[in-house]
Parts: sequence; C-alpha cells; structure tokens
Amino acid sequence: MYQAPRGTQDLLPEEQPYFAHVEATAGHFASLYGYQEIRTPTFEDSALFRRGTGETTDIVEKEMYSFIDKGNADVTLRPEATPSIMRAYLQHGMHARPQPIRLFQIISGFRYDRPQAGRLREFHQFDCEAIGEDDPALDAELITLLWRFCDALGLHDLSLDINSIGDQACRPGYLEALRAHYEPHHEELCGDCRRRLSVNPLRLLDCKVPSCQPIADTAPGFTDHLCDACREHFARVLATLEAEGIAPTLNRRLVRGLDYYTRTVFELFPPRAGSQSALGGGGRYDGMAEHLGGRHTPGVGFAAGIERLVLNLKEQNAPVPPTPNAQVYVGHMGGQAESVASDFARSLRSRGVSTLRAVGERSLRARLRHADAAGVRWTAIFGDEELRDGTVSLRDMNAKSPETLAFDQALERIVSSTQDRTE
Ligand code: HAM
Repeated sequence: MYQAPRGTQDLLPEEQPYFAHVEATAGHFASLYGYQEIRTPTFEDSALFRRGTGETTDIVEKEMYSFIDKGNADVTLRPEATPSIMRAYLQHGMHARPQPIRLFQIISGFRYDRPQAGRLREFHQFDCEAIGEDDPALDAELITLLWRFCDALGLHDLSLDINSIGDQACRPGYLEALRAHYEPHHEELCGDCRRRLSVNPLRLLDCKVPSCQPIADTAPGFTDHLCDACREHFARVLATLEAEGIAPTLNRRLVRGLDYYTRTVFELFPPRAGSQSALGGGGRYDGMAEHLGGRHTPGVGFAAGIERLVLNLKEQNAPVPPTPNAQVYVGHMGGQAESVASDFARSLRSRGVSTLRAVGERSLRARLRHADAAGVRWTAIFGDEELRDGTVSLRDMNAKSPETLAFDQALERIVSSTQDRTE
C-alpha cells in the first residue's frame, strides 16, 4: 500500500472545519487591514531562494526541495513565500503604484526537515507582506494584524517576542561585540556555533544546545548597539504597539533563522512553547530587493503556520464553526423510482438546496443510515408507492416518522425550511 510521503498529511473531510476556519479568518483579517491576495508559483528558480532566503540559512543549506527539470532549469519548491512576493513586486514594477503594496497569500511550503508534531515537510502558511515603505507604523500594523487574527481564531494566552537586529550601519559594530563575547568561549561551543562564529554570528543567539545557553544568555543585546535611526525606528514600533494595547516581550536572543531581516523581528508563541512551536514570525527585510538585483525597496511581513494554529486550536478546545453538510438526502427504492428521485434532487439544487443523491440499490435501512451519517436535515425517499401516487416520503431527521407529501409540497417544505435557517 502506498502511504503519503513522510512529513506530509492528508486532510480528511473531518479536519476541514479547522482549516476552513483558519483560512477564512486569515482572508477576513487580511482584507480588514487592506491586504490584497497574490498567488505566486509553487516552484521558482532555485537562485531566488539562495539569494533571497540566504545561503547560510538552514533552509538553503539543508532543507530545499530542489531539482533539475526536463529543460535543465534548477528549480525549488518554495520553502517560504517572502522571496517570491518580492520577486513578483519587482517583476511587475509595483513600485509605480501607490506605496506600500500590501499583499497576502496562503501557501503550501516545502522544507526537508525532520518531521514531528507541528513540523512537516509540506506545510501551509498565512503570509502577509507590506512592501515599499519603511515606516515603523507598518511593522506595528503587521504585528497587530497577526495578534488580532490569532485572537479572532480563538487562541488565548499567546506571547509575542520582539527584537531589533539593526541595519547595515549598526550591524558590523554589534557583530564585533558578539564575536568578542564568544571568542573566549570557543572551546565550549557546539560545532554549529563554532561555524556560525565565522559565517553568521547573529545565529549564535539562536542555538538550542544546552551547553551554549549560558554563553548566549550573557551575550550583548542588539538593542544596546542600535544606531540612532534604528533605535528611533524600534521605539516607534513599540509605541505604536502600546497604543494598540499589545505588549510584546523584548527577547534579546531573537534573531530569526532567515538571513534577510533588518531592524524589527518578532515571533508569536503558544502558552506551552517549545523550540519548534512558534505559531508565526516575521520582520523587516529592507535589503532583500537589492540583494535580488532590484532597486532599494523596504519591506516587512510575517507568516503564520496553519498546521500549528490548528494544533493549538485543538489543544485549547477552541470552538470552530462546522463546515456545512448537505441539507437533503434523496434516495430511490427500486429502479423505477430512480428518475423521479433525480428530478426531485435537480429541483432542490436549482433552488439552491444542497442535496446528496443516493446511488446504487440499498435497503431502506441502509439509505437512512447513510442519511444520518451525512448529517442532513431532510431525507426524501421515492419507492413504488410514491411513484404511483406522485408523492414522496419525507422525513425531517429531527422528527420520528416520515410524512407522505405531494412532490411540489415536499419541495416547498424543504426550500422554506432552509431559507428560515439562512435568514
Ligand atoms: P518562518 O519563521 O520560517 O518564517 O515560518 C513562519 C511560520 O511557519 C513558523 O512560525 C511556523 O509556524 C510555520 N512553519 C515553518 N516551517 C514549518 C514546518 N516545517 N512545518 C510546519 N510549520 C512550519 C517565514 O517563513 C518568513 N517567510 C516569514 C516572513 C514573512 N518574514 C517576513 N515576511
């Protein structure tokens, strides 16, 4: 038997209420804040992620699904949405429109990682980006959007970590201070940290290996090394969040695992946070466009992991609206009644009533069991007797026994009951 590939999952109909709730709320909140939907391709030129996401990230070093296609092009299944959205912005000359451009996208993303709860090889993200403006009000807007979105989903007791990791003016000075702190501990560091010390020192702060924790915990924080412009920017982000009633925690070790961030970075955690448990994260990436060969174009955004949001909705027993069932089950008993049963189903659907049409030959008991499992409100059965009399045996699933009604009368009864429900 074939199985779904490791790290992927089938979402069966019973899972849909959760995913539909998250995606509908995402779309609602995106448009509430004026973000428009964009859809970018599932795969891109591999170089886009190597340059965009960054050569020294875990994603590019270890996790990309890359392959050479039949035309010899080196392509990659997107591990995230941000470089694709920036590429689309540059490719379509969106700088010529009023700035910033606010975009959102719900994507499937692909990372070859070690699968575990909340970590998949194919996962889904709700991604929002605001490109073309460096106003700190935008950083705060995105954080607020993410926060209110999670609240509206029904998630509680979340915590928000925030930090600023400066820009090209103040970063060299900070990295020097970081190296000076780490160098004397070289021998105590894990292998990854030794490498990071020369390749990507910011990521030292991200290390989860226990023996590196005391060194990382006592490292200098970037917020003490910000240049005036970055300090002012960060202060305004925090002040705007405060006005929104959002109180993030300053986490001096928050640097994020992607290379493109500048200034604001943030991450959202559920109450029982573990190293893999961030519900979402993001930040500003003012250098990415130039890195991709475009003009200087600031940007800021976030992505929230849909599977992790769903896991937490279940853990918190948050109520989710059910996805609608068919309203009517229409069955025939015997081949003679088949066409009149189909006429009835057709009439219902033409009046906008969702209808499940029985197929094959089954006993009445089996038909009723199916109708019950489908969660319909009404069951209409056509047998020989009903065919002869031009009637239908109509069962309100909330009532005990069926009623025999004329075809049109039954139709009107159902249509008016479903209209009552939707009004
Ligand atoms: P990220 O932190 O890599 O950021 O991912 C954002 C969220 O996607 C994570 O917090 C997590 O909930 C979810 N996620 C990531 N990888 C997996 C996985 N393997 N399995 C399940 N869920 C996962 C980004 O992707 C950036 N593009 C965010 C951003 C947008 N920054 C600026 N704009």
